Amino acid sequence: MPVAKQAEIKPAEGKLGVLLVGLGAVSTTFIAGVEAIKKDFAQPIGSLTQMGTVRLGKRTDNRVPLIKDFLPLAQLKDLVFGAWDIFPESAYDAALNAGVLEKELLAQHKEPLRKIKPMKAVFDQSYVKRLTGTNVKTGKTKFDLAQQLIDEIAEWKKKNKCSRLVMIWAASTEIFLKQHPVHKTLDSFEKAMKENHKAIAPSMIYAYAALKSGVPFANGAPNLTVDIPALMNLADKNKLAICGKDFKTGQTLMKTIIAPGLKSRMLGLHGWYSTNILGNRDGEVLDDPDSFKTKEESKLSVLEYILQPEVYPDLYKDFSHVVRINYYPPRGDNKEGWDNIDIFGWLGYPMQIKIDFLCRDSILAAPIVLDLALFLDLAQRSGMKGVQEWLSFYFKSPQTAPGLYPEHDIFIQLMKLKNTLRHLRGEDLITHLGLEYYD
Ligand SMILES: NC(=O)c1ccc[n+]([C@@H]2O[C@H](COP(=O)([O-])OP(=O)(O)OC[C@H]3O[C@@H](n4cnc5c(N)ncnc54)[C@H](O)[C@@H]3O)[C@@H](O)[C@H]2O)c1
Repeated sequence: MPVAKQAEIKPAEGKLGVLLVGLGAVSTTFIAGVEAIKKDFAQPIGSLTQMGTVRLGKRTDNRVPLIKDFLPLAQLKDLVFGAWDIFPESAYDAALNAGVLEKELLAQHKEPLRKIKPMKAVFDQSYVKRLTGTNVKTGKTKFDLAQQLIDEIAEWKKKNKCSRLVMIWAASTEIFLKQHPVHKTLDSFEKAMKENHKAIAPSMIYAYAALKSGVPFANGAPNLTVDIPALMNLADKNKLAICGKDFKTGQTLMKTIIAPGLKSRMLGLHGWYSTNILGNRDGEVLDDPDSFKTKEESKLSVLEYILQPEVYPDLYKDFSHVVRINYYPPRGDNKEGWDNIDIFGWLGYPMQIKIDFLCRDSILAAPIVLDLALFLDLAQRSGMKGVQEWLSFYFKSPQTAPGLYPEHDIFIQLMKLKNTLRHLRGEDLITHLGLEYYD
């Protein structure tokens, strides 16, 4: 993710098109939220780009601008939304179906939401077993489908008079796929698309089309998608920013807040048991063991990386970590996540922490989509290409350069993000050493 100090950042002129793959609970909550915020009906709570600040210089300097004033981010009024989905309903109807936001709130923004009609999806039920839909493209090969997407992206950009685009995967979680030899190079990837190889999932076809169209790409689900050499190299070659995977919300957000705290005080861990009940469509898709396996891998890796059992065997060797998701329709999007954490302290004495998080998945995910759209666009205008590790803050399973372990500690991730912003603007990085105050 090379980034020049005090990079020349192109201005955010014109409209920014945000192309969403999947027009479900997360996407519609994001779009409706932006409409409400634009009209001053609500505040952008949970969004770092809109409400966060960045300290510059010494603590005594009193320079703490809002991030959106410090950097030339696209403004909310300049965002235009487009989407693909296997269901033909408009964003308004899809939002009603998702049932996250109240009908009264949605009614106030009916017009802009009704205008967003999803384009036909690239979909194959072998990758998301619990879904069937009618709004689906047909094509002889996966390569043909990619070409259709490429044409559609160009047309959409022109029709909506956008100067720039970003694409975000907010569609259902696909079945678990491992890297395959055809993912190695662009040539083998394109050949595999032409041969309809099963290692090429729909999400990869969207990512390929984005990168071929000069559009940066973020992956909000745990699918492999852009995390393969062929597409990472394509992003590098076409100087495009990419990031992923899996929006960090709910239980994993809590884990990455609490685990670094336990470790910082050298408290040990015997086990961490996490279970969820949720009843939205995401929950239904994850009820399929193959889709759940993709999610499970993403959720399980977090603690190992944060706690580093190989460095602290006396505290973290062989802790038990279990994650369960239970589909329970009455709950809808209002998930309940329970955690039972068995820790131990001085002289090995055991203690327990219990968390019962009554959260709202899409309410936590929507501001992440907004921040990713704005930061990806900023990265692109600043000449940053390839994997954007500074955006790890937003992901359960951060994508990194090959051979590098991901950083999961949310506080390190935030420091990395803000230092990247300082670096882009040629400001001193903050180390928190602070000796200068005592000279
Ligand atoms: N809500 C959260 O907190 C959260 C957190 C992390 C990750 N995620 C992930 O984000 C994604 C979206 O979550 P959601 O709650 O909005 O789910 P959802 O089921 O409400 O929406 C997903 C939409 O994607 C559509 N879709 C599926 N395959 C598609 C394809 N190939 N092309 C186009 N559309 C397709 C579905 O029809 C559906 O409308 C899921 O993968 C979920 O696991 C969500």
